[in-house]
Amino acid sequence: MKNSLLYIIGFVSLIFCFTSCTAEQKKYVIGVSQCSDDSWRTKLQQELELSTYFNDEVQLILCSANDNVEKQRQQIDSLVNIGVDLLIVSPQQLDDLSSSISRATERKIPVILFDRKSDVKNYTAFMGADNYRIGQMLGDYAATLLGDAGTIVEIGGEHGSSPAIERHRGFTDAIKRYPNVHIIGYEEGNWKQTSGNAAMENILQRLERENPDFTINLVFGGNDRMAEGAREAVNRYVVMHPQSALARQSPVKYLGIDALPTPGGGMEKVRDGILTASAIYPTHGDELMQLALNILEGKAYEKNNDMETSLVTSDNANVLLLQNKEIENQHRYIQKMHARVDGILSQLSVQRLALFSIIFVVLVVSTLLVVSVRAYRTKKRLYEQLRQKNEEINHEKATVERQRDELEEQRDQYLDATTKKENAVVEGDIDGELADGSRNTFMENFMQCLDERFTDPDLSVEDIGRAMCLSRVQLYRRVKAITGKTPVEFIREKRLKEASLLLTDGSLSVSEVAYRVGFSAPSYFTKCYKDFYGKSPSGKKK
Ligand code: FRU
Repeated sequence: MKNSLLYIIGFVSLIFCFTSCTAEQKKYVIGVSQCSDDSWRTKLQQELELSTYFNDEVQLILCSANDNVEKQRQQIDSLVNIGVDLLIVSPQQLDDLSSSISRATERKIPVILFDRKSDVKNYTAFMGADNYRIGQMLGDYAATLLGDAGTIVEIGGEHGSSPAIERHRGFTDAIKRYPNVHIIGYEEGNWKQTSGNAAMENILQRLERENPDFTINLVFGGNDRMAEGAREAVNRYVVMHPQSALARQSPVKYLGIDALPTPGGGMEKVRDGILTASAIYPTHGDELMQLALNILEGKAYEKNNDMETSLVTSDNANVLLLQNKEIENQHRYIQKMHARVDGILSQLSVQRLALFSIIFVVLVVSTLLVVSVRAYRTKKRLYEQLRQKNEEINHEKATVERQRDELEEQRDQYLDATTKKENAVVEGDIDGELADGSRNTFMENFMQCLDERFTDPDLSVEDIGRAMCLSRVQLYRRVKAITGKTPVEFIREKRLKEASLLLTDGSLSVSEVAYRVGFSAPSYFTKCYKDFYGKSPSGKKK
């Protein structure tokens, strides 16, 4: 029994061990805190998620602060409290997040700053494009487009964010090298299209106030969305002021940053001539995931990871879009395959679970079977021992009962002998007593006493005598004189006659009948029955 239990416990632990080893385990939890929520960030997140398909051990927790610094601070704090293994943060502002990021690094959580910088010093790594260089590249390209002479309006990114600061610096540094190119207006937006529109409105109003004949040759937007918003404002102005210099001049050129290849993104705007050019601001979620894994796995990594950029113009926009379409198709294919693999894996785990359950049930059932067979055998053995013991006891009981009856009979014989010696006195006594007419009364009493007590196996002649206020000798003599039988014989006959009736009824076994009529050993009952009726009680039974 003990062995069987150990056997089950061992096997179950083995199963658990096996299932937990084969179960998919997420080893690294990576928290991603995005400052904003837009198509550029959506693309980045999709790439991060896609790269988890190839890195099963990674679990991503994605959060967006929706341009709210306080919210981003709280999100980083709760990611730190959860105990993520690594944090990827794209901070909204250069400052403001330093305390939250420092708390993470104090808890030894590596922090990757992505796309935007923060003024914290102890971050683990940075990955992003060189925004200063992008600004510079677009400055040079603007000058080239203008033939080194012309007017520019710049719509800067969100105040205080590192890409806005660096793009602006790069652009103005480049323009400084072209003495005939002038930036005649600068306003900051918040990266959204509406903010580009509003900023441009302000600039147009100011320029009109200062000189109604103003012209603008190029607008540089801190990103594509703001450049497009600015374009809407210029077009509206031109419609409303058809006689203005701005309406009569050659079309304004628009430069932006991001060049997203997604539908409605900057790349399509360049292809469709809405924007003149845009600098690719890469997302590269796959490279970001690789950097995170290198850090987590203790592999070598660079602290500063520069992502390359390049210019999208009407010359290459279409080709780039086609290439991107190809990549998109591949992504979709990978996603489909992943969904399939997921389906197969979950089917597999269901099957595995079913298999283990079946094995477990079979094992439990067979163990129970072994246990019950063993228990049955033990029970049978014990039962046999008990039966033998019972037989021995019964045998002893029968012997004792027989000896008791023999003793009684010997006593009766002794009584008979003494009675003969004292013949005259005793017989006179008995005749006197019996002649008294009490013969019938005596027998009635004796029979009643017997009826009440014959079923008691311990009943003795003395007991009856005591009940009838007679000594054993008196009782013996009277019974013998009236019936010609000794009381022992009389009691035995009474029991055997009752037994005969019960056996005829047939509802009780021989042993039950024996006990019922006051024999304490069925074997002695059988012997007496045979002696009395000349046949065995089992033959009498119906
Ligand atoms: C997206 C975005 C981009 C921009 C970048 C700068 O949230 O506004 O358009 O290039 O952030 O961090």
